[in-house]
Amino acid sequence: MKNKNILYANITAVGKYVPEKIITNYDLEQKMDTTNEWITSRTGIEQRRKASNEETSVSMSVNAIKEIIKNKNINPKDIDAIIVATITPDMFFPSCACLIQQQIKATNAWGFDLSAACSGFIFALETASNMIQSKKYKKIIVVGVDTMSSIIDYNDRNTAVLFGDGAGAVLIEPSETNGIIDSKMKIDGDGGKFLYMPAGGSLNPATEKTVKNNMHFVKQDGASVFKNAVKGMTDITSEIMNNNNLSNHNINLFIAHQANKRIIDLVAKKLKFNETQTFINIDKYANTTAATIPIALYDALNSKRLHDNDNIVLTTFGAGFTWGSIYMKWNIYE
Ligand code: UT7
Repeated sequence: MKNKNILYANITAVGKYVPEKIITNYDLEQKMDTTNEWITSRTGIEQRRKASNEETSVSMSVNAIKEIIKNKNINPKDIDAIIVATITPDMFFPSCACLIQQQIKATNAWGFDLSAACSGFIFALETASNMIQSKKYKKIIVVGVDTMSSIIDYNDRNTAVLFGDGAGAVLIEPSETNGIIDSKMKIDGDGGKFLYMPAGGSLNPATEKTVKNNMHFVKQDGASVFKNAVKGMTDITSEIMNNNNLSNHNINLFIAHQANKRIIDLVAKKLKFNETQTFINIDKYANTTAATIPIALYDALNSKRLHDNDNIVLTTFGAGFTWGSIYMKWNIYE
């Protein structure tokens, strides 16, 4: 595909960092009223990573970006912008983008954090894609990172078993032939009440009471999110495929947000993607929120599930509600 009038935003490098510490379902069995059987059968999760006291969203992002800088041999001074998708920044301000910029010495970059929960990375890719098309930027780092262990109540089995920590990063550069072809993003605040963290913002600033009442932890009505996620992801992926005259046979790999294997299986079934076309790594990392899709891209590439010239679809759904789908022609080595 070559269209002189269109500049595509292409992913030209990937980086990943996950903490060393592994928490298995058996470890959780010792701490709360749950079982490995329940977790694997209801979610597909077998283990998750947990940040050490020294590890944060910024430190994990820096490690993922450093892999890109090293492997791609780029000069940090050439990075034009850094977009960090996260709901667990090191602090409200300064942004992770600023702290990362300083640590990687990207002295000519600007950047910002983007809050869209599990859709953060896809929304950030959409943003970077439009920045590339403006022709003003040539090298953009997009990070999806979350330290979910910092906002999880380990006394609440409904949420504690579901999440993990990690970071994934990509380098976005302009291409005349490959990259993001089409995208569709959506939000619906009616879904806000089903997945949220009540305190810590201007509505409920931190007080002794908010801490005592566990209001600084994730609250979720799992069944409502599940239903909406299956419908939202199926509909938006269908829309992207229809808009681009694609059938299931034209897609080499479908990478969905990894929140629950049952959700991914249901969406894949409705879209008629077989197992080879559907990427799953939730068993290893659980739901790392904004990091699931960049980590999946990294793992898919390194396990040879992703090849040059593949047609891929990235689809997500998360708190907000937020959801979105991106169709891209993959060619990392161009
Ligand atoms: O990434 C952002 C988007 N998030 C999602 O997409 C998550 C969407 N939701 C889900 O993945 C699922 O709804 C969950 C995995 C959260 C829950 O699965 P479910 O099949 O919807 O279970 P449920 O919430 O309906 O609970 C079924 C039972 C309940 O017991 P009773 O009331 O039937 O006696 C729960 O108390 O399972 C119980 N339960 C557990 N049992 C053992 C809930 N959590 C656990 C647990 N261990 N960890």
